Amino acid sequence: MNVLLLGSGGREHALAWRLSRAHGLGTLYAAPGNPGIAAHATLVALDVRDHAAIVAFARDRAIGLVVIGPEAPLVDGLADSVRAAGIAVFGPGKAAARLEGSKGFTKDLCARAGIPTAGYARVRSLAEAQAALDRFGAPVVVKADGLAAGKGVTVAMTRGEAEAAIADLFDGTAGAEAVIEQFLEGEEVSLFVLTDGTALMPFGSAQDHKRIGDGDTGPNTGGMGAYSPARVLTPELEAQAIGEIVMPTIATLAQEGTPFSGVLYAGLMLTATGPQLIEYNARFGDPECQVLMARFEGDLLETMLAVAQGRLADCPAAAFAPDTALTVVIAARGYPGTPVAGGAIGGIDAAEATGAMVFQAGTRDAGEGLVAAGGRVIAVTALGADTAAAQAAAYRGVAAIDYADALCRRDIGWRDVARAAGPSTSPGTNA
Ligand code: AMP
Ligand code: GLY
Repeated sequence: MNVLLLGSGGREHALAWRLSRAHGLGTLYAAPGNPGIAAHATLVALDVRDHAAIVAFARDRAIGLVVIGPEAPLVDGLADSVRAAGIAVFGPGKAAARLEGSKGFTKDLCARAGIPTAGYARVRSLAEAQAALDRFGAPVVVKADGLAAGKGVTVAMTRGEAEAAIADLFDGTAGAEAVIEQFLEGEEVSLFVLTDGTALMPFGSAQDHKRIGDGDTGPNTGGMGAYSPARVLTPELEAQAIGEIVMPTIATLAQEGTPFSGVLYAGLMLTATGPQLIEYNARFGDPECQVLMARFEGDLLETMLAVAQGRLADCPAAAFAPDTALTVVIAARGYPGTPVAGGAIGGIDAAEATGAMVFQAGTRDAGEGLVAAGGRVIAVTALGADTAAAQAAAYRGVAAIDYADALCRRDIGWRDVARAAGPSTSPGTNA
């Protein structure tokens, strides 16, 4: 079967790598892809905003499955257009993708279905926002409603910070909307579940590091590293999160006529009273996908096709290696501000010779070699018997990379390594 994979990041490189190993794969196409993805797929220049062009290409090349990597085309309804053309697609339609596209939509759904999440108010003006701040006090969390590439959230420890955040959101721009919610205390963890709208299949857990600096300091990023599994999410807590959060979400969307098909990524806070939902994403995480794919032992094409065709109930549970996978993102200096472009990247073969896998994100083939062309540039990924071993292996790979303009964290996995080392080094809360 021919497959079309949409996206160009490290997440899509990891998906392309796993798809390329599938038994039933004919030709794998990727649009727009990147130089790393080109090792596994034929790259094509297609604009994901041009639904007719995607459908025409899929028909022309007898594509049996379209896999949508990033959130923007999902929220834009690309999966609906592909499905309407009778082509199987991995990824939810526009209505169900609102789980990621609108924080207010998700909070209202949680309220309807009794799903544990922070108390909240949806606000549409500065006055409404101020009234909500009066109600919640500080600390408090202020979230822009729509997609914001990880930048629309302010965790305000003081009333002053919250005031600044709402002033920023309601700066006179028409149509602004925000969610103001109660601050949750605990450790964050990501849970992945595949669903075809009715059946569901747990698909692993991970923890990422969103802050740019060591010790989880500095500005938020798309993610500077991750590891899987997240052992802090014990089998009991995972079962609780699936039963109290994920299952009612899937059931409510199905009942309301907008079933979710694809991967549901639940960002959870493990609070003293149990797991609570922080947010949903309608796609794999980046770089969480890199560590999930490093551990996944099944046939990814068969699994994604079962999701797309509503046959998930007939599939065996997803198999993952018992090892820990850990990935370190190497970004371009300047990220998450303006990254330095064009820096030469060498040493990928040397890094892979250490046993690591290098997934490319913001790279470009400059003829005489690979250069940086984005914020997050590559993700060096390795397996180990535990988090400490995976961390050591990943950083051996990082050391082999020859890229002068690079920036990377030195402590990916610290929380789990500290936990394994014993209670005297026990970390604080909140990523
Ligand atoms: P979100 O985009 O909703 O995942 O929010 C980004 C980050 O803000 C999360 O990963 C958390 O670290 C933090 N966050 C969001 N909501 C809350 C909350 N209610 N309580 C504490 N931290 C939060
Ligand atoms: N790494 C966080 C995300 O993909 O949303």
